[in-house]
Amino acid sequence: MPFRLFRTKSLEQLRASADEPEHQLKRNLGAFDLTMFGIGAIIGAGIFSSIGTAAAGNMVDGRLPAGPGLVLSILIVALICGFTALAYAELASMIPVSGSAYAYATLGELMAWIIGWDLLLEYAISNVAVAISWGDYARSFLSSVFHVDIPGWLGMDPRSALKLADGVPAMGLSAKLHALAQAKAGGLDGAALFAHWDVVKAAPTVAGLPITINLLAVVITALITWLCYIGIKESARVNSVMVVLKVMILLAVVGLGARFINPGNWHPFVPHGWGGIQAGAAIIFFAFIGFDAVSTTAEECRDPGKDLPRGILWSLGICTVIYAAVALVVTGMLHYTKLGGIADPLAYIFTEHKMAGIAAVISFGAVIATTAALLVYQVGQPRIFMSMSRDGLLGPWFGHVHKRFKTPSHATVLTGFLVAIPAALLNIDEVVELANIGTLFAFVIVCAAVMILRKRRPEAPRKFVMPLPWVVAPLGILGCVWIARGLPALTWYRFFIWLAIGLVIYFLYGARKSRLQEAAPAL
Ligand code: ALA
Repeated sequence: MPFRLFRTKSLEQLRASADEPEHQLKRNLGAFDLTMFGIGAIIGAGIFSSIGTAAAGNMVDGRLPAGPGLVLSILIVALICGFTALAYAELASMIPVSGSAYAYATLGELMAWIIGWDLLLEYAISNVAVAISWGDYARSFLSSVFHVDIPGWLGMDPRSALKLADGVPAMGLSAKLHALAQAKAGGLDGAALFAHWDVVKAAPTVAGLPITINLLAVVITALITWLCYIGIKESARVNSVMVVLKVMILLAVVGLGARFINPGNWHPFVPHGWGGIQAGAAIIFFAFIGFDAVSTTAEECRDPGKDLPRGILWSLGICTVIYAAVALVVTGMLHYTKLGGIADPLAYIFTEHKMAGIAAVISFGAVIATTAALLVYQVGQPRIFMSMSRDGLLGPWFGHVHKRFKTPSHATVLTGFLVAIPAALLNIDEVVELANIGTLFAFVIVCAAVMILRKRRPEAPRKFVMPLPWVVAPLGILGCVWIARGLPALTWYRFFIWLAIGLVIYFLYGARKSRLQEAAPAL
C-alpha cells in the first residue's frame, strides 16, 4: 500500500491519456485567447474590493494596514507569482494536460489527489468570493442607476447579517437569536445591537433564525455555468469582450484619478513597516490568483508548448502594471485610513471627490470585471475534475464530455452547485482567505514539481525552460510561505480540516480505483 501512494505517471502516459478520443476537447485557443483568459481570471473582486481592506487593514481582526505601501505589497506578490508563473509555464509546456497531472508525474498519486482537492479551494472557493462580490456591486449599481432596490435579506449571508454593532460584547448564536427575538418584539434596541439591523429586522425567520441569502450571487453563478456548459469558444469570446472593458475601466481609474492625487496622502508611505506590507500582501494576493488558470486549458490550446507560457506571463505582467498604478492612485486620492470597510473602494474614491457619474461607471465596470473572472474559474474547475476522473481518482461521471458541445458537462453543472450554494450563504472575507491559502499551497507544490522533474527527467522535452530553476523555484516556495504567514491562524486550521476531509475521500475511493493500479510506475 505505501508504494501505491507514491505511484507516479510517466509524461508519456499523461500525454496519451489526454489524447484518448472520449476525453478530447476542442483545440482552438491561441496565445491571445490565453492572455485574455488569464487577465479575465486575474482582474476581479480582488482589485475592485479587497484593495481597500489591504490598504486600510482591519484592526478588529489584528490586520495591519499596508497604507500607500500597498504598492510594495503588490510588487512583492507579483514577483513571487512571477516565480511560480515560470514554474507553471515550464510544467504546462512539457505536460500539456490539466490539473492534478503535474503532481502525478512528479510527486505520486497521493500528492496528485491532494493538489486536485486543494485546487477546489482555488477555483471553486475563489469563485464563491467573486460571486459574492458581483452580487454586492450589482446590487449597488441597480440601486444607484436604476433605483431598483433588492431587499437587504436577499443580498447578505446569514453570518454577516447577524454581525453585532461596534462595541457590543461578543455572544454565541443562541444568545444572538434570543436578543434578536427580543429586539423584534420591541424589548431591546435592535439598531444598537446589530450592525445590519435593517436586514435582520426584515428577514423572514425559521425557528428564530433569520433567513438571508446572496440571491444575485446565485443568479450570476447559474448564468455563467450555463455559458460554460455550451462551450469554451463561446465562453472565450464573451470573456475577451469583458476583459477589454474591465482593463479600460481600470485605466480610466488611473487616468481620471491621477489629477486628484494629493501627495500628502502618501505620508507616511509605509505606516506599519514590513508587518503592514506582509498583511497587505496576504489580502491582495487574492487579486493575483488566476494567471495559473491558463494552464488548465492546456488540452484546448492549438500549440500549448508556446502559447501557454506566453499566456501565463503576459497576463501576469499586464495586471501587475495596472494594479501598481491603481494602488498609487487610490491611496493618493484618499488617505488610506478612509478606505477601511468600504466594499467598492474604486467607486468610493470618486464619490468622495464629488464625481458620482464616474463612480457609477466604475461600479458597472466592477460588475463586468467580476463576471469575466467568474467565467474563467467556472471553466477551469470542471477541467480539474475531468483530469482527476481520467486518472481514476474520481469516478467516470466526472469526466463525461458532452457529445455536441464537447465540454465536461457533468463536472460543469456540479461546479455550478459547488459555487452557488456557499455563495448564497458564506461571508466574503473568510472565503477570500481560504482561497488564498489553498492557492498558495498549490503554488508551493508546482514549484517543487519543477525541481523534481528536472532531477528525474532532465532529458524530457521542454518548450519553455525556467531560468535558474534552483534559485527561482525555491524563492517561489519561500515567497508563498511568507504570504501565507500573513493569514490568520483560523484560516490555517480551516485549511488543514479541508485537507483531512480530502484524505478521507481519497482513501475511501481514489486509492482503490486509480488507473495507476493497472500501470507500472514509469518514472
Ligand atoms: N484574482 C481574482 C479576483 O481578484 C480571483 O477576483
